Amino acid sequence: MLTYAELRRDLAIQLARFLPVEEAQAESWLWLEDGLGWDRSRLVARGEEAVPEADRERVGHWLRRRREGEPWAYLLGWSTFRDRRFKVTPATLIPRPETELLVEAALDVGRRLGLDRCVDVGTGSGIIAVSLALETDWAVSATEISPEALVVARENAATLGATVAFLMGNLLDPLPDPLSMVVANLPYVDPADRPLLQRELAFEPETALFALDRGLKLSTDLLTQARERKVPACLLEIGAGQGGELCRRALGTGWRKSMIHQDLAGHDRVLIALA
Ligand SMILES: C[S@@+](CC[C@H](N)C(=O)[O-])C[C@H]1O[C@@H](n2cnc3c(N)ncnc32)[C@H](O)[C@@H]1O
Repeated sequence: MLTYAELRRDLAIQLARFLPVEEAQAESWLWLEDGLGWDRSRLVARGEEAVPEADRERVGHWLRRRREGEPWAYLLGWSTFRDRRFKVTPATLIPRPETELLVEAALDVGRRLGLDRCVDVGTGSGIIAVSLALETDWAVSATEISPEALVVARENAATLGATVAFLMGNLLDPLPDPLSMVVANLPYVDPADRPLLQRELAFEPETALFALDRGLKLSTDLLTQARERKVPACLLEIGAGQGGELCRRALGTGWRKSMIHQDLAGHDRVLIALA
């Protein structure tokens, strides 16, 4: 007989065969809590209960896929962003904690400028648009080039009760003038870095990760488009070390002011361009 307490310990050992030990420990708890519905207090109180065959099979199935590098969020089918649960599929990027910095910067800039509208470009699972719609009274629109991702974003907005106008197309093209603040976490990984990336990233959509011109192309195109369309502020999530070059490009395309926020690790993370 295998108990839930034993299953958790055994999982940590199995996961540590291909993950760093600390990650394996943390993930073993997630599998129990989020995957099987056994949170820590239930495990403390009833951890000696036998694991039924159905749960053993689920865990075996997850372990086989996880060993191949498939991210846990895709196995589970959802991920958390700003304390809300978002559906994710292999058509969408898995939300990253760094993106919270972008949302916080957007809330701050939008309130300072007294704006009542914004656009999320490259919405993916919809995390930015939905968070802004639920945390403000702004009218929020979002664009996305992948129809499959757009289906997921729409579903997340409906499940979470957010009103967002979702449109399919390239950058700002689907939106009529006048536009207000633009917020975007577009692909910014340099394709030349592909061999250095974690193997989990191979499961995420290429079109959500990579951009030409050393990862800068889509950010540059959006800064240019947003400036031409007389947008008051454009906020972008950017890659570590891209800040200097992108600030120069923003000023070169006519933005009055351009600044960088760094993340807790001290990496360039958010560019704020003001008209
Ligand atoms: C890095 S992912 C971010 C997804 C989501 N905003 C997030 O923060 O998790 C970038 C998204 O931009 C979309 N995308 C890529 N090129 C685009 C373009 N030219 N116009 C609109 N969306 C684009 C991708 O399909 C992908 O969903």
